[in-house]
Amino acid sequence: MKKKSIYIVINIFLTFLASCSTSSNGIQILKELSNPVANDAMAVTLNSFNASWQPVEGINEYRLDVSSASSFSTFIEGYENTIVKDLQKTISNLKSNTSYYYRVRAYLDGRISSNSNTIKVTTDTESLPETALKLEATNFFVGIAVNPIRIGNTKYNEIYQREFNSITAENAMKMRSILKGIDSNGSLIYDWSQSDAIVDYAEANDMNIHGHALIWHRSIPDDLQNFNGTDEEFRALIETYITDVVSRYKGKVDSWDVVNEAIADNSTSTTFRQTLFLERMGEDYIKKCFQYARNADADVKLFYNDYNMTFDQDKQQAVFNVIDDLILDNVIDGVGYQMHINSDFPPKSSIQSATELITQRGLLVHFSELDVRTNQNNSFSQFTDTMALRQKIKVKEVVSVYNDIPNAYKYALTIWGLKDDDSWIIPEYGNMDWPLLFDNQFMKKEAYHGFVEALNN
Ligand code: G3I
Repeated sequence: MKKKSIYIVINIFLTFLASCSTSSNGIQILKELSNPVANDAMAVTLNSFNASWQPVEGINEYRLDVSSASSFSTFIEGYENTIVKDLQKTISNLKSNTSYYYRVRAYLDGRISSNSNTIKVTTDTESLPETALKLEATNFFVGIAVNPIRIGNTKYNEIYQREFNSITAENAMKMRSILKGIDSNGSLIYDWSQSDAIVDYAEANDMNIHGHALIWHRSIPDDLQNFNGTDEEFRALIETYITDVVSRYKGKVDSWDVVNEAIADNSTSTTFRQTLFLERMGEDYIKKCFQYARNADADVKLFYNDYNMTFDQDKQQAVFNVIDDLILDNVIDGVGYQMHINSDFPPKSSIQSATELITQRGLLVHFSELDVRTNQNNSFSQFTDTMALRQKIKVKEVVSVYNDIPNAYKYALTIWGLKDDDSWIIPEYGNMDWPLLFDNQFMKKEAYHGFVEALNN
């Protein structure tokens, strides 16, 4: 037992000797590796920088870490414990205007020092040429959906005016916002405060105004829903409503969604959505509403507006059956495809072929409510670079399809809200998403740049 203990002690001593070197006076001392001292980054560009450090005596090899986190919890690909047999290394393929951190260790014969000091470096900010969506899109309006509450806000206001030359009321011109009830004489009670605010703002800022929407099954005031007069009285109320609204804004509102979403989803070729208007006014209610709007303003452009039109072929068929009738009656000017889409669907080719269904008929095209979901399966808790890139590609595809439309059929491409956290998508679907062109800090996203790139290719 005693013999074994002596053997262990001797072994420990020999190991100790192996990690020592002889000093000039012949005494064995422990040779610890000194930590290198990292220098400030040099040659910083948009997407690269040069990391360097002071030499450690007797050391020819270093180990370098580069991270976007000061805690080095993750590493830039290819830069975790990377061998560098030099005193510097150029780190490239980085993102602009982004902070990175690096540190280095000395290495000798299987032994490694502790970390050097950590250096923080921020890549240069891309100085993109100052531009605005409305200036890039020379042959069509770039629209934005707006709520009156935001137009007094300086930040919103600045971006609305800089980027957009067309406006759609996200909610303020829907029937529930304008029509407050029916009085005891059967007269309609109006509140024009919200809709006037939008129209006044647009006029003051020289913007095109797209009215949205005269007739929509999801915006029916209770008094109308519960109206117990005859069908003919109901029809007359609708005629009065459309006449009053269109007349009030005659010469100011440039176009109207007269009827919104009148065709059922997954419809066969003649399936109307079951709505109060269908029930009370019959299948030609759409035609009647267009006619009332046309009677009130001969010059305003009249649109039919719907969603899923770029890929649901049964719905396309059903919608165009209705539209072809409206064309025969000469009461329609254009079709709105809402464009609530995902970053991976629908494909560009189907957006393109669906758009041709409009231009082929000689009608104006409005991509009327663009937003691009990136988290429809609720798989992400934050917006990653990959998601941003996919979204950019989809926006670019949509804008490029729009831009390729012959000028005679172009009207407007409208974005359904300014910044991500304003979007209806989040309350509607109950999970996080980032569907718009500006982030929550009002900064332009990759999707914004995709819009611009589509117009410059
Ligand atoms: O005005 C009330 C407010 O007083 C209340 O405090 C708040 C509490 O939730 O609700 C407010 O109303 C909401 C309104 O948006 C304004 O924020 C409604 O509940 C909400 O239903 C409404 O949602 C709108 C939705 O249409 C229904 O009108 C969305 O903002 C709007 O983006 C969405 O837009 C539609 C298009 O018109 C047609 N195409 C589909 C698109 C998305 O659904």
